[in-house]
Formats: sequence, C-alpha cells, structure tokens
Amino acid sequence: MDRYLTPDDLGKALRRDVADGLSTRPKTLPAKWFYDERGSELFEEITRLEEYYPTRRERAILAERAGEIAEATGAVTLMELGAGSGEKTRMLLDALSGTLRTYVPVDVSGDFLGRAAGQIAEDHPGLTVRPVVADYERHLALLPGGERRLVAFLGGTIGNMAPAERVSFLSAVGATMSEDDALLLGADLVKDEDRLVRAYDDARGVTAEFNRNVLNVIDRELGADFVPERFEHVAVWNPNDEWIEMRLRSTAPQVVHIPTLDLKVEFDEGEEVRTEISAKFRRDRLDAEAGAAGLRIDRWWTDPDGDFSLSLLRPV
Ligand code: AVJ
Repeated sequence: MDRYLTPDDLGKALRRDVADGLSTRPKTLPAKWFYDERGSELFEEITRLEEYYPTRRERAILAERAGEIAEATGAVTLMELGAGSGEKTRMLLDALSGTLRTYVPVDVSGDFLGRAAGQIAEDHPGLTVRPVVADYERHLALLPGGERRLVAFLGGTIGNMAPAERVSFLSAVGATMSEDDALLLGADLVKDEDRLVRAYDDARGVTAEFNRNVLNVIDRELGADFVPERFEHVAVWNPNDEWIEMRLRSTAPQVVHIPTLDLKVEFDEGEEVRTEISAKFRRDRLDAEAGAAGLRIDRWWTDPDGDFSLSLLRPV
C-alpha cells in the first residue's frame, strides 16, 4: 500500500480544521470529518433510505451504461477517488474486465482501504490492486499514472466542494490526464426543493445522527466535551448557490471545551454550525466548470427521471 498520508497528518488536519472552523462566524466544519467507523456505517444506512435517491439513481445509470463506459474508455487502469462505493466499484470492474489490468483505490483511511482492496483482489484474480492512502484534494499529482486511465469520482461527492474548489480540483485531475484518459464523474442534479430537503432530513433521523456524529469525532480525537444531543439537525436548500446546507443548531447557550486545542467555544442559543454543503448541478454549470478546468464533457448520462448524472470528461 502506498501512503502519502499518515494518521498523524490526519490528526493535524482535523485540529486545524476544527480550530479554524469554530473560531470564525458563522462557524463551519468540513464534511470530510463525518466518516469515522460509525459515520461510515451511518452513511451506508443513509444510502438505503427511501428518501435518499442519489445512490440508487447512480447505480441505475451505471447498470445501464457500464458497457458504453467500457467501450468509450478502453480503460487499462481504473483509479477510484474515495473508494467507498463497493457495489458501484464492482459494476465498473466487471464492465471493464476486457481491458483492465490495474485498480487503484484512493482513500484517506488505510484500514478501510486495506480491507476493501483485499476483497477486490480476491474476487478478481489477475487484476493488480494497488491501494493508495492519500487525500485526493492534495495529492493528485503524486498518484500513480498508468496507461489509458479512467479516474472515477462517484457518489456526488464533488458537491461537497464550493465552486472555486471544484474548478481547482478538476484542474488538478486534468493536469494528470493524457489524451486517452477520462474522468467519470457522478453529480447530483437540481430538482424539487421538497425532495432535496427530505433526502437530507429523513423521517427516521439517520441523517441527523450522521450530522451529529462529527461532534463525537471531535470529542474522541480532541478530547472535547460536545454533547451531541444539545445540537439539532438542520437541512436547508440554498437557492442562490444551488446547494443543500446541513447545519447543527445549538439548542441552548453553551460552552464547549476542546483541551487538545486549548480552546473554549461559545454557542448562542439557536447558533448554527455549517457542517456540509451538497451542491446540485445543471448540465450548463458542469459544462462551464469543466471548461474552466481545461476539460470537456464528452458523454453525459442521467437516470430516466433526470435525478442524477454521470459524465465522462476528457482533456480539451
Ligand atoms: C457522500 C457527499 C455524496 O452529499 O449526498 C448524505 C453525503 N450527507 N447525506 C451527499 C451525505 C448527508 C453525500 N456525499
């Protein structure tokens, strides 16, 4: 396993993000810290919720288009950024089996990667599986190259980035791509506000628990004394930026201590911490952002209801 990121680097990044995010107003925390063991389980549970359509829709598009993707790319190397999507990975690997020789899953969690990669190697004799522990927002230039590479960034995770970050991320991916390479991008689409909000505020409260889990992560890793129950889950549609915002709203005035940072954080009653943006796209916006990054959308697929998109981007 290649490592560009140690557990110590991750700890440092968490300390910096929490110190910065909780000392600004409005307070913010980056969405990437949801995903400890418990958070990853909760996310899996979200993907099975009736209200949460993105995973099902993306899987349906893949089921329908995997053959076309294989034909269009002839991929010899598949690199998956954020290798958390077991079933979708398998669909791609199966479709690409005619040409594929190497699979490179990239993730920040070495434990998770090791397990997932071992399973995939076992199920695909003849495939070289080469997991890389890295932060794909920082280490793209260091990742292994390869002949006819398909880079997959699925799930709609690009929606966690603000517009400027998306363009720099896409530019960084583009900078690693040669003419024969392609980027397979999953992006959720703008739709009815009601459905969007329900997808991020489900009736059973799984998303609420997922959202509050970031406070458990900070308590455990930084010795903080957040009481997650003192924060309420909020999901709102922001029509100007066309993204869903998840927030945690303090139910009372309170002070939280974070010993590792030597920090005391005060919350007013009703004060909110923004914990995630999940941007929703339109084709024209993705066209423009791809263009700004030196890429073009070569193929574009959606599910029959137009809920979610998969696109194949190539260098201009
Ligand atoms: C994994 C980032 C795509 O934004 O829909 C699910 C995370 N947050 N429910 C998304 C998430 C709340 C998810 N992504």
